[in-house]
Amino acid sequence: MTIKGLIFDLDGVIVNTEHNHFLSWKAIADKLSISFTERENEQLKGISRIDSLKVLLKMGKVEISTNDFDALILEKNEHYLASIADLSEKDILPGVKVLLEDAQSKGIKMAIGSSSKNARFILNQLGLTDYFEAIIDGNGVAHPKPHPEVFLNAANELGLEIANCIVFEDAESGIEAALKGGFYVVAVGNPHVADQASEFIPSMLDFNVEDYA
Ligand code: BG6
Ligand code: MG
Repeated sequence: MTIKGLIFDLDGVIVNTEHNHFLSWKAIADKLSISFTERENEQLKGISRIDSLKVLLKMGKVEISTNDFDALILEKNEHYLASIADLSEKDILPGVKVLLEDAQSKGIKMAIGSSSKNARFILNQLGLTDYFEAIIDGNGVAHPKPHPEVFLNAANELGLEIANCIVFEDAESGIEAALKGGFYVVAVGNPHVADQASEFIPSMLDFNVEDYA
């Protein structure tokens, strides 16, 4: 495999904001008296904010009005944004910065393929925006993960063939999306999805771009 591009999911791959998402959904679940643990949160990882609330309501067999739905979406995001207000470079997951530097020095192009509408804010907080030639996020896709659109758009914006790109993911929905798109997928850090991807690494420290050159 000749690697010319790396496409990164954001939450759970570059930064551990997945736990913040979980705590914010947990607050909403508690409010609706829906039992919700980290295990159930696996189903929400990677999917859009709106789809997440739909899944949560289905889990709890709860039906609400459109107005209440919209209010909860807003409340969840406000809770989440308050919890990541102090996000900074120190929150970048181990091995990520070294890989970005290494890939950049080798002329490998990099993109973000995230479901989050907060992706650009987070990348700015982490000081990582400039590493990426393309940032495809929750604001720019018609079909969210597990549809492959986000990754296909990322490869397209980088001007690269799918066969020359690696996707990094931590979520079931994201791995499914990337595999559907025909990508080689490295699952990072989440043992629950280890057997679903092309390859699993416990952390980005275990990925060496030279092994794929
Ligand atoms: C994904 C996360 O990256 O973005 C999900 O894995 C999250 O947990 C989704 O719900 C949407 O994020 P946001 O920031 O737009 O609410
Ligand atoms: Mg993720």
